[in-house]
Amino acid sequence: KNGLQVAIDGPASAGKSTVAKLVAKQFNYIYCDTGAMYRAVTLKTIRSGISLDNEKEISAIVRNSKITFAPDENGQKVFIDGDEITQDIRSENVTNSVSAVAAIADVRKQLSAQQQEIAKDGGIVMDGRDIGTAVLPRAEVKIFLIASVEERAKRRYKENIQKGINTPLEELQLEIEARDYKDSHRKISPLTKADDATEIDTTALSIEKVVSEIAKVINLKL
Ligand code: C5P
Repeated sequence: KNGLQVAIDGPASAGKSTVAKLVAKQFNYIYCDTGAMYRAVTLKTIRSGISLDNEKEISAIVRNSKITFAPDENGQKVFIDGDEITQDIRSENVTNSVSAVAAIADVRKQLSAQQQEIAKDGGIVMDGRDIGTAVLPRAEVKIFLIASVEERAKRRYKENIQKGINTPLEELQLEIEARDYKDSHRKISPLTKADDATEIDTTALSIEKVVSEIAKVINLKL
């Protein structure tokens, strides 16, 4: 094995991908954004005109698609069947539809298997909702990132403004709460903190501080 498996889970907009990318860079590990995989399937489902409750067709989409990543200065680019979808998977429509797709048993089964394959040699930072509990239950490092919903809505709001999106703060907060509720209450591998995960509340912490806290946990295991 070339390095550890680092699992970072937590609710929406807790800063997982931002810190996961920086941690991966610091240890020269691969970064894998599993949320991007669920988003990619959701985007293709919407573009194919398939209804979000059509489990059979959505499973077939996963079976017949290839989701790939390519490193990039901002983290990574995401592709489905060779088409770049890095920006498209961040749309409000995809964001508000993804939890329904992620609740489908066969979708989770297929994507989890792909994630386990990506992580099998270690040297990886993987972020998502069920990495420490279901995808990599034996990961050497498990982090559970949380932050108040007000703070998470504010972060999302700032990101959106930079992208020219003007959804009101209150609406973002409601969307985040609705998505967390769905992700925490689905039947299969819902969002929960693994018993052996280190919880970090990022509400009042800088990005640098969160990264250094995670680096400490990793260094203890190296
Ligand atoms: O991390 P991100 O917000 O991009 O994830 C999008 C959605 O993908 C989540 O709201 C959740 O429904 C789903 N997801 C999941 N399991 C993961 C990662 C993401 O169910 N490991």
